[in-house]
Amino acid sequence: MTPAMQAEPTTQTPPLPLQHLQRITLTGFMGAGKTTIGRLLAERLGWNFLDLDAYLEQRTGNTIADIFAQHGEQRFRRLESAALVSALGLQHTVLALGGGTPEGLTNRLLLEQTPGTLTVFLDAPFSTLYDRCVLQDIARPVLANVEDAQQRFQQRRPHYLRLAGLTLNTADRTPEQTVQQLLAELSR
Ligand code: S3P
Repeated sequence: MTPAMQAEPTTQTPPLPLQHLQRITLTGFMGAGKTTIGRLLAERLGWNFLDLDAYLEQRTGNTIADIFAQHGEQRFRRLESAALVSALGLQHTVLALGGGTPEGLTNRLLLEQTPGTLTVFLDAPFSTLYDRCVLQDIARPVLANVEDAQQRFQQRRPHYLRLAGLTLNTADRTPEQTVQQLLAELSR
């Protein structure tokens, strides 16, 4: 494995104040903590929580691993995009995206142009993310080959950064600490 990329500190212009937000979307590579942090954040805000992967599985009645295996990644990306359109219509919702959601230009435009939407990038070096994923018992087709996964991480990271109104470094932080930091940033 090549040396891990360093996570960057919080960047970007200040996000919209909380009272103007309808939804917060969490983005980042697999293992970033989007689901765990999203659940905690929604609880603190008294908002709903939606995980895009779980939503897609519910809509299709099929697991992501099965969709990849039976129909391929392209089909998965189309279903993911359709699920995103629907999810972005929800109010007062914390939405955990899939790690690859920002790969598609249409998805990026949707995230940028849906009013009242703040995208938060949960950043960490690839090696940290990979180690976290190995500890989790979740079938992730995109993680089957570590070199490919690292290449995807490097290709996606500029998109994650550009999309985000706020970037948080989650390496060496618990999900609880990240939520605290996020809430502090939002109330500034
Ligand atoms: C993917 C990440 C997964 C899931 C699918 C593809 C990716 O979501 O959407 O397996 O391309 O990085 P998580 O980031 O929630 O694991």
